[in-house]
Amino acid sequence: MAVIGVFDSGSGGLSVLREIRKILPDERYIYFSDNAYCPYGEKTAEFVTARSRAVTDLLLSKGAAAVVVACNTATAAAIASLRAEYSVPFVGMEPAVKPAASGTRSGVVGVLATAGTLRAAKYLNTKGQYADAVRIVERVGQGFVELVESLDLDSPHAESVVRASLEPLLEAGADTIVLGCTHYPFLLPLMRRIAPADVRFIDPAPAVARRLADVLKTAGVPLGDPAPGVELLASGPDATLRKLFTII
Ligand code: DGL
Repeated sequence: MAVIGVFDSGSGGLSVLREIRKILPDERYIYFSDNAYCPYGEKTAEFVTARSRAVTDLLLSKGAAAVVVACNTATAAAIASLRAEYSVPFVGMEPAVKPAASGTRSGVVGVLATAGTLRAAKYLNTKGQYADAVRIVERVGQGFVELVESLDLDSPHAESVVRASLEPLLEAGADTIVLGCTHYPFLLPLMRRIAPADVRFIDPAPAVARRLADVLKTAGVPLGDPAPGVELLASGPDATLRKLFTII
């Protein structure tokens, strides 16, 4: 019996929790939305690291035996410090550049992520490994996090916001697009409508869920909770979190 903590700057990490629960349905989860401080993407790495510590302290005080950093921005800024400072295992997000680079037919991979993720060494190192083989074009999903946090997933306004960041990638020839922020999968139906049918979108969440299962096993965390389920917590108002939880 163990509690698994999952956090993000907001509700985006629910897209990761959804995949985790597909393969680990019998566990107890605490999901923390740090929405009083959202978005993380425009904040400094120091700020995001301080928030990640504060949220980790809270999750550990509630008994978390492992923590999923369901946020690309916090993973890039903070996971190395978290691993150095705490003894529980941490699983973070990886921008899915590798599967995108091996799957592209046009030779152009698009990456949508926050400014914090795109400037972080973690992303730049990953990108550097594939930059010789494929062309990588990037865009911040400007305003995407705000759309998701305001539950505006499908309006004409949402469409124009999404087009502004997605179309430049499509115009550059990207046929494979990495969703490098955990909020963005909530906008996937809209993105699919905007993009040509043969464009692939890659969400790393299923791979992160598999990684968590491996990490729990290796760490010997006992699986199978007598009271499986999800506790939802937020540092700000929790209406979006509760609503999005009903649709994942
Ligand atoms: N969902 C987050 C990520 O994956 C953070 C978005 C934000 O707060 O800017 O990067």
